[in-house]
Amino acid sequence: MPQNEFNVIGGCLQSLSLSRGQKRMAFYSKYILPQLIDLAMKNPATTECRSRIIPRATGSVLDVGIGSGLNLRFYGPRVTRLWGIDPSSELLEMARSKLKSVPFPVELVTYSAEEIPLPQESIDTIVLKWTLCSIPNPI
Ligand SMILES: C[S@@+](CC[C@H](N)C(=O)[O-])C[C@H]1O[C@@H](n2cnc3c(N)ncnc32)[C@H](O)[C@@H]1O
Repeated sequence: MPQNEFNVIGGCLQSLSLSRGQKRMAFYSKYILPQLIDLAMKNPATTECRSRIIPRATGSVLDVGIGSGLNLRFYGPRVTRLWGIDPSSELLEMARSKLKSVPFPVELVTYSAEEIPLPQESIDTIVLKWTLCSIPNPI
């Protein structure tokens, strides 16, 4: 069977096997939650806090749970490159739309904090901004 037909059948089977509650949850996670997170995280208090903390990052930076990329514009000239991880591909897409004005290389990857795909000692600064409370097994 050609790969694309196999994928279509797989997709149908997957959507048939989801309960109505699971479908609602999937819709919420894909279309509503990312917008709510972006909106909630760009209020004046969080922006003021970012403007004080984020410019202190140096060298290779790992931003864990980067979300919609609201930290990006506050990274200073001492940053050489940045990895941003987040389990939400929708939020990473929003972060990607902010990359044009970022003067260092950035890699955005759909990963969870429990399985960070970087070698030991490859990072100089780790940033967790309002993320730890979302991670079920942070250690
Ligand atoms: C309150 S938001 C903060 C987003 C961003 N750090 C900011 O300052 O705008 C929490 C973030 O943690 C992410 N997150 C949830 N579970 C995670 C996990 N297991 N590993 C990494 N990030 C996670 C969410 O997708 C979301 O982007």
